[in-house]
Amino acid sequence: MNNNCSKLHDVIIIGSGAAGLSCALQLSDLGSIAVLSKGPLPEGSTFYAQGGIAAVLDSNDSVKSHVDDTLMAGAGLCNKEVVEYTVSHSREAINWLIDNGVQFSRDTDDKQYHLTKEGGHSHRRIIHSADTTGQEVQTTLVEAVKAQPSIKLFEQYNAIDLITTKKLDSSKSSYCYGIYALNKGTGEVEVFQSRFIILATGGASKVYLYTSNPDVASGDGIALAWRAGCSVSNLEFNQFHPTCLYHSQANNFLITEAIRGEGGILVRPDGTRFMDEVHPMAELAPRDIVARTIDLEMKRLGVDCMYLDISHKSADFITGHFPNIYKRCLALGIDITKEPIPIVPAAHYTCGGVRVDITGRTDVDGLYAVGEVACTGLHGANRMASNSLLECLVFAKAAADDIRSKWQREVKIPNIKAWDSSRVTDSDEEVVVHHNWHELRRLMWNYVGIVRSNKRLERAERRIKLLQQEIREYYVNFRVTSNLLELRNLVMVAELMVACARKRHESRGLHFTLDYPEIDPAMDGIPTVIQPRVIKPTDLES
Ligand code: FAD
Ligand code: SIN
Repeated sequence: MNNNCSKLHDVIIIGSGAAGLSCALQLSDLGSIAVLSKGPLPEGSTFYAQGGIAAVLDSNDSVKSHVDDTLMAGAGLCNKEVVEYTVSHSREAINWLIDNGVQFSRDTDDKQYHLTKEGGHSHRRIIHSADTTGQEVQTTLVEAVKAQPSIKLFEQYNAIDLITTKKLDSSKSSYCYGIYALNKGTGEVEVFQSRFIILATGGASKVYLYTSNPDVASGDGIALAWRAGCSVSNLEFNQFHPTCLYHSQANNFLITEAIRGEGGILVRPDGTRFMDEVHPMAELAPRDIVARTIDLEMKRLGVDCMYLDISHKSADFITGHFPNIYKRCLALGIDITKEPIPIVPAAHYTCGGVRVDITGRTDVDGLYAVGEVACTGLHGANRMASNSLLECLVFAKAAADDIRSKWQREVKIPNIKAWDSSRVTDSDEEVVVHHNWHELRRLMWNYVGIVRSNKRLERAERRIKLLQQEIREYYVNFRVTSNLLELRNLVMVAELMVACARKRHESRGLHFTLDYPEIDPAMDGIPTVIQPRVIKPTDLES
């Protein structure tokens, strides 16, 4: 080992959301676990989750019903085996959270947990903590990992690239055994080594101009895995949440689907309802249909937003079920107990990602992907509400079990070269990064959004290529910064999203294109797969 910054652990987990922290806790009895987060430990999509977690908990509900609803929402593209596996482990996953101290809301009689309803679900099956479920889950898991001496936490560490055998010596078998990570505190790039690495970096919705996601959702794990030789799948399926608050002072604020589950209706500016004209489940139709209908109505009427109205329910009911949304809207001058809420769709969830099997294994030995970064096959062409946190929990356990079964395996970890920054200088024009970032997000919103066409995708592809050249030049010549790393990853993920979208010659679930407006039954069950890039030793980018 020739790197004085090297850190050796049994498992490295990149990401500290529901997926990463659950993996860490599941593995904490085995050895030394490092968890990296590029921001503060709690920051990530998990913290902002509102609606809850879908699980079969009610005696009138069944695994079959949850499975059928998931398959229906997924528009013929879910992997049925994965859906059945996930749903049949849902109760166990919720019990694990409760055992770790998560407090869920109870019914008014206090005897049972309150279950709410969201789009696509034919039963009440969403367990939640009022309208701040993610905050409750995240803060509880953070406390739990802090109490485990075997888990070492590295906050403000930005993983740059994975280190694999293939990259270093072009041998045929590829094994992942380390990472380069930028210590944001010191500005130095450090080496971490381990026998197993788990990507739990969340999604890539930050690739779009308008999103419900926090800034960390820049698709890093997808880009890291792709550069390391993993295949990716289904990246054309970006979920747009139908109801984000439309207000000049509200950045990224979601209005939970549970409001519709509890009777909220969507209306035009003149107060007329429209979802009942489009789908038998009306406001609770699968998300792709609701978001597309809102988008269509806004364009048809030439207006900036639609409205979500729950004001027909009692003020006590509203403030009891949605205290956070009530407070946040009131602070912006909107009293949701008395008036409708202005809403627009915004990028929300990355259904595709790094291709994994049912234990979270990627194409590269020793490398796993869990949570929103991964494509397990659970969501197909459209994720059903509240199935995401469930997936994080179930697959964290599956990946941990697989790692446990391989624990005794001997792995010879080669020496890793220290990061070479001798040929780079400090950036002379950091503002370029900002401009490119803005340009990328705007073009993705305009050309790769809710409604696509061949022409729009081609336009996006051309512009992305140009941006990539500029960003690569910048990356090679200047010292890495967090913003630059995120931009480099976002542009890579944008390219993969467009590549997936260009491959799918039909409209299905979240992918709607004017050139192929119908579903093609011949494509049922066929995911889009982009095979790994061939990696040559010269690709070493450090
Ligand atoms: P995240 O929670 O996003 O965590 C990602 C972690 O990776 C962070 O710690 C981040 O710092 C770290 N990271 C990323 N890149 C790097 C890097 N390069 N180096 C180091 N660290 C890195 N789903 C539901 O099921 N139910 C809901 O009610 C629900 N509501 C939602 C509401 C909102 C507003 C949003 C945005 C999402 C919601 N979702 C919901 C989706 C769900 O929250 C996410 O899919 C899920 O939390 C993802 O968890 P994760 O652990 O995969 O990633
Ligand atoms: C919501 O509360 O509407 C978000 C639920 C989800 O994304 O699963």
